[in-house]
Amino acid sequence: MIVTAYLAGSVSSAILVCRLRGLPDPRSQGSGNPGATNVLRIGGASSAAMVLLFDMLKGAIPSWVAYKLGIESVWLGVIAIAACLGHIFPIFFGFKGGKGVATAFGAIAPIGGTLAILLVITWLVLVFISRYSSLAALLTAFLAPIYTWWLDDRFTLPVAMLSTLIVIRHKDNIQRLLRGEESKVSRKRRS
Ligand code: G3P
Repeated sequence: MIVTAYLAGSVSSAILVCRLRGLPDPRSQGSGNPGATNVLRIGGASSAAMVLLFDMLKGAIPSWVAYKLGIESVWLGVIAIAACLGHIFPIFFGFKGGKGVATAFGAIAPIGGTLAILLVITWLVLVFISRYSSLAALLTAFLAPIYTWWLDDRFTLPVAMLSTLIVIRHKDNIQRLLRGEESKVSRKRRS
């Protein structure tokens, strides 16, 4: 299951959606990140929505199967991390992938609806206030283990492991935020 989760995570939907829709490679445009936020910048809302959905599902399906099989929470966390590592270091795309936010969210969602809704609301409110997708993701990643501890303590450690991975992966965004050079959320308008 760990290997399957890694392989599922390695399917970079941002690169595939951009190829299918004749858009520039997200690794060479905008922030250079093959993720939904950057596809929103270069391809618009419908392409970004497809990427977001696919990236969430590739985290959610392995995690949901593991959850239903009653796999111990720490191993469930390892499976979730494997899916995110696939997204971040995809074997099919030269090990150059995204930041794992949507995939991590998908992997956490099967823990419970309340947790999933809290995370979505937190991210949306923070994006609405700040206009920075990365800052919203970082603060949501910080709050995720706290919400989990409150709602279902069995999964605090795996969620904290995922959050740590997300924060480490946003190293460049953190530096850009501190320098005041981070790109805000924007979307390509129809011409
Ligand atoms: O989910 C990725 C997001 O947090 C940052 O994306 O393209 O602004 O680096 P980007």
